[in-house]
Amino acid sequence: MKVKKAVIPAAGYGTRFLPASKAIPKEMLPIVDKPTIQYVVEEAVEAGIEEILLITSKGKESIENHFDFDMELESVLKNKNKQDLLERVQYVSDLISIHTVRQKVQKGLGHAVYCARTFVGDDPFAVLLGDDVMYSDQPVIGQLMEHAEKSGCPVIGCQEVSREDISKYGSVKYSERSGRRARVSSLIEKPDPEEAPSTLAVLGRYVLTPDIFEILAKTPRGVGGEIQLTDAIKTLADRRQVEAYDFKARRYDVGQIQGFLEATVEFALRREDVCDRFQAYLAELLERD
Ligand code: G1P
Repeated sequence: MKVKKAVIPAAGYGTRFLPASKAIPKEMLPIVDKPTIQYVVEEAVEAGIEEILLITSKGKESIENHFDFDMELESVLKNKNKQDLLERVQYVSDLISIHTVRQKVQKGLGHAVYCARTFVGDDPFAVLLGDDVMYSDQPVIGQLMEHAEKSGCPVIGCQEVSREDISKYGSVKYSERSGRRARVSSLIEKPDPEEAPSTLAVLGRYVLTPDIFEILAKTPRGVGGEIQLTDAIKTLADRRQVEAYDFKARRYDVGQIQGFLEATVEFALRREDVCDRFQAYLAELLERD
């Protein structure tokens, strides 16, 4: 199974980031100097994805503009001899071809992915959620794509979380587990901690097969009154083998203030041009009363 297409849902309101996300899509909020969505797009490109579909909604035009060619800006930077900035701007617009489709009504993640059916056609495809930003040697979606290729199965990206935290995620019930993979026997979206079948959580990366669309079309609203992707994958797992893959990465939930702040600090500390002064500042801050 060779995966070349990716779907990135970016239609949500971003209510956890209001008022910042009132006029700016939450996906455009920067970690250091790059919008969060760029980290996710770069992960897909690095894994060999050739085409991306963004699922957007009203007010998300700036995401498309970010990945588009900006002739005026480029000529200003050229005239001012700002070669370094010019290259950084060109890099973004040259990254990959990005298509968009609008989710006209917000009916949940399952419905957002369903909006990708024409783009996906008969091919297997990756799904990357913009709220999950990864830091890893091998791109996380690439790890899943490799496992999908080897196993021939749809794969969901997972990591262990605490029992207390499992209620924020999809929880995987598995029938067997070896090394980094497990066979999915069921899934529960946002379970009560005592009812969760395991603490293996679904964390924003999937490799799916097009048979998911026929299931999504019939999936009723679930938790939160939304059509849940997790519920559709559960049905898929009743029909064919679905694998969970415990990917290797540090994951940041940038859809929450805490995760966003952690990502900001850690990515800044990894940047050679920022790290020394920023680290000194943090040390000095801790010393203050
Ligand atoms: C979504 C999925 C959930 C997953 C989570 C983290 O939930 O529905 O299964 O565990 O992303 O990637 P959300 O955080 O959008 O409510």
